[in-house]
Amino acid sequence: MSATLPTGRIGAAIRGEFPIFETVTYLNSCSQGALSHTVRAAIEEWLGGWDANGAEWDFWVERNEAFRAAVAGLLHAEADDVAVTTSVSQGVSALVSALPLDGERNRIVISEYEFPTIGQIAHAQELRGAEVVHVRPDSDGGIPPERFAAAIDERTALVCCTTVSYRSGYRHDVAAIADAAHAAGALVLADSYQACGAVELDARALGADVVTGGTVKYLLGTAGLGFMWLRPGVYERLVPTQTGWFADEDIFAMSIADYSPHASARRFDSGTPPVPALYAGVAGLSIVGDAGVPAIETHVRGLVDRMLDGLEELGATVATPRDATRRGPLVCIHSTDVDALVAALAADSIVASSREDKLRVALHLYNVEEDVDRLLDALARHRALLA
Ligand SMILES: Cc1ncc(COP(=O)(O)O)c(C=O)c1O
Repeated sequence: MSATLPTGRIGAAIRGEFPIFETVTYLNSCSQGALSHTVRAAIEEWLGGWDANGAEWDFWVERNEAFRAAVAGLLHAEADDVAVTTSVSQGVSALVSALPLDGERNRIVISEYEFPTIGQIAHAQELRGAEVVHVRPDSDGGIPPERFAAAIDERTALVCCTTVSYRSGYRHDVAAIADAAHAAGALVLADSYQACGAVELDARALGADVVTGGTVKYLLGTAGLGFMWLRPGVYERLVPTQTGWFADEDIFAMSIADYSPHASARRFDSGTPPVPALYAGVAGLSIVGDAGVPAIETHVRGLVDRMLDGLEELGATVATPRDATRRGPLVCIHSTDVDALVAALAADSIVASSREDKLRVALHLYNVEEDVDRLLDALARHRALLA
């Protein structure tokens, strides 16, 4: 592996790891985390091993387990309760394939803030007899747990409440929503892609039965790799019908005569692991782990506070809540012409993104106060593009 970083590096102390900051102000970790020297070295290590040895099968399996263990560390969980997936979509599709949705308990309740893949997978289950119920936000953009409670009953099989929304930055009260769901006998899925790596998550304490995410964003890895934590005592009752040989109780049994899902959450793994993404994912997670998620969360909260103060001074309309318990690393700002605004910022060498009519600005461990100030200066110049 590449050289390990000194622990606790954050902000200016870690910036040199990420060459992108030599040329731009990068505020787009909600789309993709910045590439580090460490992750580049890990990918080169994978290429070097391929060159030198061809198939490094044992090492691939070891990387798969190293990633599983690293995710378990991130979530304060056990490795046996973590599935390694190739995407959130793959894991969640396997999850719902384990739910009998054609009987009395056939409803999937989803928040309006879910990522498209969650809504699309839920609606795909209509082909199997499911009904999908949407929980919409209040006029202030929040979705209080009572709104979920009103939508949940004994017909509910699954409740989906993303931890931090990709489209508003809103952070659900997952524990309170889970209480309502569990009282009705429903399972809870918290898609935590926009939180993991930037928000401290303790899988068991979060309250959901299933916590999923991936490595593209705040975990600083590449596309092609995700994870799904499942609550022990729950997953043993779930038998996915969408599966693959890496989910088998014995990968090397090579049997085509039966289906024997693994006793652990590995039953939600699928086929050949995404090897290059595993190298990158383990390396990305090591950067996050060395810095420490609680320290990252504190750092990010300070930057978000600074940004929200500046946006208030500018009179901008912010979709993300001011309340620090209801937000994470993502700030969404309404714009009159968001494409023009993203382009204007790009011309100022500031990389941000958009969803609907909103500018999305994401802060992470490598961002510093100057990044926020540079953005606020640019927004003041482009004030006409703010709603
Ligand atoms: C909240 C959330 N969930 C899921 C995804 C991606 O899902 P998948 O790994 O299936 O591509 C994203 C990516 O943007 C996301 O923001």
